[in-house]
Amino acid sequence: MSAVRRVVIAAGDAWVDAVATALLDRLAAAPDLRMCLATGSTPLPVYDRAARSPESFAQASVLLLDEFGGLPADEPASCDCVLRDHLVDRVPLAEYRSIDPDADDLAAELRSIDTWIDGGGIDLAVLGLGRNGHLGMNEPGSPPDGRTARVDLAPTTIEGAQRYFEGRAHPKWGVTVGLRDLLAAREVWVLATGAAKADIVVASVDRPATTDVPASLLRNHPECTWWLDDPADS
Ligand code: GLP
Repeated sequence: MSAVRRVVIAAGDAWVDAVATALLDRLAAAPDLRMCLATGSTPLPVYDRAARSPESFAQASVLLLDEFGGLPADEPASCDCVLRDHLVDRVPLAEYRSIDPDADDLAAELRSIDTWIDGGGIDLAVLGLGRNGHLGMNEPGSPPDGRTARVDLAPTTIEGAQRYFEGRAHPKWGVTVGLRDLLAAREVWVLATGAAKADIVVASVDRPATTDVPASLLRNHPECTWWLDDPADS
């Protein structure tokens, strides 16, 4: 039974406050929450706001959702660096698990992420939304039963990522937690803001589920909340 909830809030501080407050409420109810967290730009102000209550995170665990491959080790726009800057380095955590796409033994790295997930599942996945409906780096056509994998990015994702890297790097692939484990998370939040996301929100929430729009597969998830600002719901 699908239970997609659409929560629409005024853009700006009100949206950030609502999502950050909901996150802190989840942590208050379940301090040992196991979270899988996206980067991209959309969730960052939420993390900044929630990190003002660092004690809330002390027993929680965080798994990074995805990571670009082939980046220099000191690249500040890597998903790991971004999540550290906005949350992980600002709060105490029981555990933080990043992803190393350039590991010498990538197969072992992928297995170890799956082992982390198998060790208790994901209680809350906080996801962004790609313009093509991707979740993490699960591009259109990704298998719904896929686990953590090395994946090629869609051309529009490669181009869109340039706003993070500003010419320093041009990643064309990455490693992502797979759709199987995102769809199996006990609760999923999708964060989408701005009018540029409005069309893909409609395709994801109001149209039939299809692997061509990975986010639409969440229609069948029992506990999925879409946190939209009003331009994204326009
Ligand atoms: C990126 C990331 C996703 C992210 C999405 C949206 O490519 N791989 O995890 O959620 O695209 O990014 P943004 O929030 O910057 O629009």
